[in-house]
Amino acid sequence: MAQTRDPDVTAQRLLTSSVRNSFDPDLDVDWEAPLAEGKYFMPPERMSLYGTRLWDGLSEEQRIELSKHEIASIMSVGLWFEIILIQMLARYAYDLDPRGAHAQYALTEIGDETRHSIMFARAAERLGVPKYGAPRIVHNAARLFKAVASGPSMFGSVLVAEETTDRLQRSMMDDENIQPLIRSVNRIHVVEEARHVRYAREEVSRTMPKLSKAGVRMHRTRTAVVSFAVVDSLVDSNIYRSVGIAPAEGRAAALANPHFHQTRRWMAEKIVPFLRDEGLIGGRSIALWHKAHLI
Ligand SMILES: [Fe+2]
Ligand SMILES: [Fe+2]
Repeated sequence: MAQTRDPDVTAQRLLTSSVRNSFDPDLDVDWEAPLAEGKYFMPPERMSLYGTRLWDGLSEEQRIELSKHEIASIMSVGLWFEIILIQMLARYAYDLDPRGAHAQYALTEIGDETRHSIMFARAAERLGVPKYGAPRIVHNAARLFKAVASGPSMFGSVLVAEETTDRLQRSMMDDENIQPLIRSVNRIHVVEEARHVRYAREEVSRTMPKLSKAGVRMHRTRTAVVSFAVVDSLVDSNIYRSVGIAPAEGRAAALANPHFHQTRRWMAEKIVPFLRDEGLIGGRSIALWHKAHLI
């Protein structure tokens, strides 16, 4: 179990770091720079169709085009989850003492996520892609989740969304084969997310021991369901249209693709052991983690 500190001490450290190391995507990303010719927008081996027969049928240009749409989908779904998170953090801060660093950091994080969402929105606009997002049913189910979620499953689900996408972004930010625009967006996000992860992990560690046995079961189920829904939504099936593949066909090939399963497990490799140690992954909920290819 992770060490739990006084929440105000950690938050004070995070506030100091936020003052020193925050970005303004309007100024810190070169939005006017031309896109680089012949460079991928995400690593091909992390793409959902990599290694399938559909992939073999694509030309190099088509693979690069698909990488643009796939990363745009992941950023757009990330943006959608950030809006959910902003609402959850606002509800969380509602009950805190605003004089404390813990409350002030929650408000600071809302500010970070607002800037990130604008950054991802501008990136999608710059790439000239269609509007991608979570499936309608997930989009609507999230209305309830963001209005009522609290406790370890709220912060646990946030961690799964943040740490899985972080793994992918981290792997790209120093990769010379990736488009410079995507690399700079990723770098900004990775730096600021590290603080969010610290804050949310401590919340999970602080609140898990307070749960009853029934509470543990409920929070495990909620975390598994939300994590499944978020990770499974990252790649919008409509991206496959960009290279002439029917959405249902592309989606079916991705879901049956062992490479893609491996990519999902790789994305979850950092957060899953933490949630297991904290007891937020366990019991019957584990079946769902396997089904999502996160374990
Ligand atoms: Fe973010
Ligand atoms: Fe975040």
